[in-house]
Amino acid sequence: MALRRALLAFVSLGLVAGLADAKPDLNGIYALAKRRVPTHAHAFSFSLADGEADSFVISDAPSGIHVECTTVSACARGLYTYLTTYGGTDIWWTGSRLTHLPAYLPKVGIPVQGHAIVPYRYHFNTVTFDYTAAFWDFDQWELELDWLALRGVNLPLAWVGYEYILIETFREVGLSDADISSFLSGPAFQAWNRFGNIQGSWDGDLPITWVNDQFALQKRLIARMAELGMTPALPSFTGFVPRALATLYPNASIVNGSEWSGFPEVWTHDTFLNPFDPLFTTMQTSFISKQREAYGNVSHIYTLDQYNENNPFSGDLAYLSNVTAGTFASLRAADPDAVWLMQGWLFFSSSAFWTNDRIEAYLGGVPGNDSMIVLDLYSEAQPQWNRTSSYFGKQWVWCELHDYGGNMGLEGNLNELTHGPLAALNSPGSSMKGIGLTPEGQEGNEIVYDILLDQAWSSVPLNITAYVDGWVARRYNVKPLPKAAHDAWRLLSTTVYSNTDVNSQATIKSIYELAPALTGLTNRTGHHPTRIPYDTNATILPALKSLYQAGVQQPLLRSNPEFAYDVVDVARQLLSNRFIDYYERLLTAYNSSLSASAVRAAGEPLLDLLTDLDALLATNGNFLLSNWIRDARSWAHGKNKKAYGAYLEYNARNQITLWGPDGEINDYASKAWAGLVGTYYRPRWAAFVDYLAETKSRGAVYNATSVSAQMVALGKEWSNGTWGTGKGETWGTKGNTWDVVREVLDKWT
Ligand SMILES: *[C@@H]1O[C@H](CO)[C@@H](O)[C@H](O)[C@H]1NC(C)=O
Ligand SMILES: *[C@@H]1O[C@H](CO)[C@@H](O)[C@H](O)[C@H]1NC(C)=O
Ligand SMILES: *[C@@H]1O[C@H](CO)[C@@H](O)[C@H](O)[C@H]1NC(C)=O
Ligand SMILES: *[C@@H]1O[C@H](CO)[C@@H](O)[C@H](O)[C@H]1NC(C)=O
Ligand SMILES: *[C@@H]1O[C@H](CO)[C@@H](O)[C@H](O)[C@H]1NC(C)=O
Ligand SMILES: *[C@@H]1O[C@H](CO)[C@@H](O)[C@H](O)[C@H]1NC(C)=O
Ligand SMILES: *[C@@H]1O[C@H](CO)[C@@H](O)[C@H](O)[C@H]1NC(C)=O
Ligand SMILES: *[C@@H]1O[C@H](CO)[C@@H](O)[C@H](O)[C@H]1NC(C)=O
Ligand SMILES: *[C@@H]1O[C@H](CO)[C@@H](O)[C@H](O)[C@H]1NC(C)=O
Ligand SMILES: *[C@@H]1O[C@H](CO)[C@@H](O)[C@H](O)[C@H]1NC(C)=O
Ligand SMILES: *[C@@H]1O[C@H](CO)[C@@H](O)[C@H](O)[C@H]1NC(C)=O
Ligand SMILES: *[C@@H]1O[C@H](CO)[C@@H](O)[C@H](O)[C@H]1NC(C)=O
Repeated sequence: MALRRALLAFVSLGLVAGLADAKPDLNGIYALAKRRVPTHAHAFSFSLADGEADSFVISDAPSGIHVECTTVSACARGLYTYLTTYGGTDIWWTGSRLTHLPAYLPKVGIPVQGHAIVPYRYHFNTVTFDYTAAFWDFDQWELELDWLALRGVNLPLAWVGYEYILIETFREVGLSDADISSFLSGPAFQAWNRFGNIQGSWDGDLPITWVNDQFALQKRLIARMAELGMTPALPSFTGFVPRALATLYPNASIVNGSEWSGFPEVWTHDTFLNPFDPLFTTMQTSFISKQREAYGNVSHIYTLDQYNENNPFSGDLAYLSNVTAGTFASLRAADPDAVWLMQGWLFFSSSAFWTNDRIEAYLGGVPGNDSMIVLDLYSEAQPQWNRTSSYFGKQWVWCELHDYGGNMGLEGNLNELTHGPLAALNSPGSSMKGIGLTPEGQEGNEIVYDILLDQAWSSVPLNITAYVDGWVARRYNVKPLPKAAHDAWRLLSTTVYSNTDVNSQATIKSIYELAPALTGLTNRTGHHPTRIPYDTNATILPALKSLYQAGVQQPLLRSNPEFAYDVVDVARQLLSNRFIDYYERLLTAYNSSLSASAVRAAGEPLLDLLTDLDALLATNGNFLLSNWIRDARSWAHGKNKKAYGAYLEYNARNQITLWGPDGEINDYASKAWAGLVGTYYRPRWAAFVDYLAETKSRGAVYNATSVSAQMVALGKEWSNGTWGTGKGETWGTKGNTWDVVREVLDKWT
């Protein structure tokens, strides 16, 4: 009986285009249970059965708990449903707490069923691989993949180690290693090279050791994804090539792409081999066959972006459909079942270029509707599916972008995340086939990601009040949990996480993280909003007080890592928002013709606040610059270890500050990290206050060009630094969260 059902399940699996066709087995789920709930693993059993795609049934069994499922991913989701709903535990970005299951597993009683409302549950933005995961080791990836699998994600992007196979493909067509080196970008910037936005590395060539090590990591990641029932969206040949290809193949159809984000010619205008040139198919076939050899036949879904923030050579409709027809033909030549996955960001960010007829021509070059998956990248605020007739019938995924550059401000719109996907799914003629997350970085605000992945398993909108209560109870996982903890989250969820302003629908950037200036920092909307869309005194402040009170009432809370994280995070937001008030006072002092010493005095609270912020962040391991640098340096080995380590540290530092050799997208990926606040943001503000006081005393006018040049110079110096060599540059945490938060509440409210 069991066997027959398993065979039937195998048949039902091939239904969704592109998902893995390998014979499923449950070894990966048993391994997951052993890894995360070792003392209870023997009590869980799993079986595959025929039935509705991606569904599960949890029931009591003589030996414990049984999960029956139609797919491996649904089994993981079934296990998760038990662990969270009955076990009261969860796994977080800050770590797995699943070992906190009760000693005696609660019974289920009446069997519980669940099913996914969409075939694809997707995760990752191409740039998450750099803003968050650039330096992750296997253990960090393992936590991430378990986090994803348990939440029922079955389609993760899988970019790690791309360059290894790309280099092999380049060599095969005759490119030299020097040609290839001039094209590839540094370890913290690979995403934008993969997108064709940038080329080359401004601080030295990408070391081959890095390429080999990442490739070795990728082999483990792909195997693990497959084992967990996920179909990795694999890389492919995109068409971006070293400049020298044009010399080697003078007759090939080659163009240069557009400039990106103010980078000088040498680092951008990537060379692009037109997909209708036969050489494109040759390289695609080579790339994909090498990749299949390396990772096995684990997926037919390929990520491929040609025009992300990079406009096509021509807007001619015939050209556009020719490009996609050629690209798709190359994929199919390499894999007859290939499905093309692309990020739809361009249709929003370059909406002036991407008129509807151009989008229709571009997508229309690909025959059939199941042959593509478009990620509607920013569905929660700037959806494009609704202006493109549901991408003219192509499959698409409702995605939450939410975060730019791994910025860390609190923000969210829970109402949209629970209602938006269902409205899109149920709209007439909808070709929506998935729900997913596409944040540029994973930093805090976990609730907004959790709720969307949970919504993918509910055909009615989740009840936000009940959801938040349940989420907080398992996040803090102590009994009794003081009401004050619930109060804090109810308040945040109905204010900070109910932001309906579509022009500030992303993590709010803190202005102290921006290069100091007299104008342009506050009240920004759009891509990097700095406008605070709520009243701090009526939201963040009482929420922090409630959390603090909860920690007083229930001291066990203080040793809960997620509680500690939240307390630091909310206190961080309080200080960030207060900074704006002091900044405005400084400007007022400067504008009214007061003395230099009055200006200096008005600057003192800003610097004092940043000192306190640095001390607050230093108490928690999740808010440390030194961890980012340590992770980067940990990849250095071999006979050039010292130089390699310095190179990696430069990459790590440059990405989060200047982002480019000369501050091309300065402060885009800024972070609220101890060390960064203390050794970079604070000195910048100190220099700014000095400048204002000094010009005031001389009666000189404010020179924005000169201020900005001074800030870039500070950034260059800082990027060259070596952590641990300067005053107070320590590794690991420092100080006690609880004491520091008490001081923050006393001093800054
Ligand atoms: C390029 O095309 C020209 C004209 O058709 C031909 O003479 C030449 O041999 C071609 N070169 C290469 C490298 O194929
Ligand atoms: C692309 O840019 C390079 C460097 O500026 C230039 O040498 C080359 O001619 C350009 N190629 C095309 C096809 O425009
Ligand atoms: C993958 O599939 C191809 C044909 O599609 C086949 O030739 C090859 O042997 C398969 N490789 C593995 C590792 O299963
Ligand atoms: C379309 O592709 C073909 C090659 O397949 C090429 O000859 C033709 O010029 C292309 N048309 C346009 C409009 O780019
Ligand atoms: C699509 O939906 C968004 C968000 O609701 C809205 O702002 C936009 O106007 C809609 N576009 C069209 C063409 O309906
Ligand atoms: C793709 O979807 C569109 C819109 O629903 C439809 O008009 C078209 O016939 C579909 N194409 C195929 C090949 O099914
Ligand atoms: C949502 O949940 C809350 C708290 O559990 C409950 O009071 C409320 O009635 C629920 N709302 C709906 C519409 O079910
Ligand atoms: C920002 O906007 C708020 C509310 O509109 C206003 O009170 C404040 O003065 C503005 N700040 C600046 C620096 O313009
Ligand atoms: C918030 O509280 C601070 C500190 O008490 C006060 O200075 C500020 O004016 C208040 N802001 C608002 C908008 O009420
Ligand atoms: C200070 O002066 C600048 C330049 O004149 C002006 O843009 C700004 O709004 C003023 N700020 C305050 C807080 O008065
Ligand atoms: C402002 O500073 C820049 C760069 O230091 C300098 O070139 C320029 O002359 C200055 N402008 C004025 C008005 O002093
Ligand atoms: C940073 O280091 C590079 C390479 O060692 C050097 O060329 C550059 O001058 C340094 N810049 C600063 C501002 O220290």
